[in-house]
Amino acid sequence: MKISAIILSAGNSTRFKSSTPKVFQNLCGRPLIDFNVDLIRQNKKINDFNIITNKKLEKYFAKNGFQNTFIQNPVNGTGGAIQQYINKGPLKSDYYLICLGDTPVINKKIIDDFINQTIRKKLDINVLGQQLSSPKGYGRLVVSKNNLIKIIEEKDCSVEEKNISLINTGFFLLSKKAILLSKNIKKNINKKEYYLTDLVEIGLDKKLKVSFTVNKYEKVLGVNTIEELQSLEQEIQSNIKIQLTKKGVRFENPATTFISMNSKIDKDVYIESNVVIKNNVFINKGTLIKAFTYLEDCEIGKECSIGPFARIRPGTLIDNNVKIGNFVEIKKSHLKSGVKAGHLSYIGDSNVGKNSNIGAGTITCNYDGKKKNRCIIGDNCFIGSNSSIVAPVKILNKAYIGAGSVITKDVPANTLSLTRIKQKFIKK
Ligand code: UD1
Ligand code: CA
Repeated sequence: MKISAIILSAGNSTRFKSSTPKVFQNLCGRPLIDFNVDLIRQNKKINDFNIITNKKLEKYFAKNGFQNTFIQNPVNGTGGAIQQYINKGPLKSDYYLICLGDTPVINKKIIDDFINQTIRKKLDINVLGQQLSSPKGYGRLVVSKNNLIKIIEEKDCSVEEKNISLINTGFFLLSKKAILLSKNIKKNINKKEYYLTDLVEIGLDKKLKVSFTVNKYEKVLGVNTIEELQSLEQEIQSNIKIQLTKKGVRFENPATTFISMNSKIDKDVYIESNVVIKNNVFINKGTLIKAFTYLEDCEIGKECSIGPFARIRPGTLIDNNVKIGNFVEIKKSHLKSGVKAGHLSYIGDSNVGKNSNIGAGTITCNYDGKKKNRCIIGDNCFIGSNSSIVAPVKILNKAYIGAGSVITKDVPANTLSLTRIKQKFIKK
């Protein structure tokens, strides 16, 4: 059994008022399109997939590394997209899973169950439906005696049909026979587009086996406007925090914390208010993240205390029992266990050894105007306040740097370095 997937993403996103295309907008830290691409790639039953796009969007897909795109031209509706797709050459698969690029499926079981049911019941057309308390904007499934009769778009609904709460998620599984019938879809008179949803009636007419599956997992919601994207994001954010809380993470004020979907947080982590945890962050057990901290693509060890107002940037690894205080920025650095950087510092492209203390206002000068260089600071070092450590430079174990020094040469172990001019007393 060969199954291909088709992700429809060629719409003009006229309802989404942004100069960035809708499917490249971020949802919980990832472009919208990535959700369904991942969903398909991870499903072992699906052999390959194509993304349907348009001439204008093509460059965005190319830039983001998508090669398997198919250009819909003209952009004439979801039915038009499939009509053009089937005309591109012989169809080699037994089934075609139609997905919408603007409708991310979060729970992978949804599609797995959907495929299983379609194959078990030997259906030609299976529509993934779901109950929604506010179905406005979606196509409705018209069902009689548990048989799907048709799908009717909001614009074409009668007053009674508008009350139907069973909606079309936009996901279809079509047998080869069924997808070929999309050539019979006629232009919708109201919208002057070809609706893929019309395939239900066409299939029934041709005596194909047509049915629907009701999604019983997390809701599958489409994004047409910025408002819808925001409310979907809120919903996913709220779910992420509920799941983390169940695993033993505590939030002071969960509504004010943003957490990307690919971040991991261990139990006994406490997160204060207004914290942003973006893209691939891993926080180990027992760590405290204080208010207004911004973490991105980094790992933080056990029993650390970070913030308030700390910024930990990509490529940073912080070992256990590290203390980072307010207004400290760390980038692409490794801080070993027991390090303390309590106040107003920049540590970039650096290694800091065990139990070293970084005084207030310490700056690693990692950039010489052309390239980034590394600072290596050993174990048990003490960097006095307001020091500049000019990279590339090595400070060996147990070195002591006097406050206000500018370190440009390697520092031997067990020494005190001072680059400060002597204090003068000038009489008035
Ligand atoms: C569509 C469905 C509706 C369903 C809803 C679920 C149709 C006619 N309507 O409505 O029943 O409840 O999704 O979210 O199918 N696209 C193309 N080419 C086109 C037009 C659209 O690839 O010519 C793509 C869009 O980029 C989008 C998807 O298809 O990713 C859906 O199109 P959209 O215009 O957003 O349809 P909806 O009005 O949301
Ligand atoms: Ca849509």
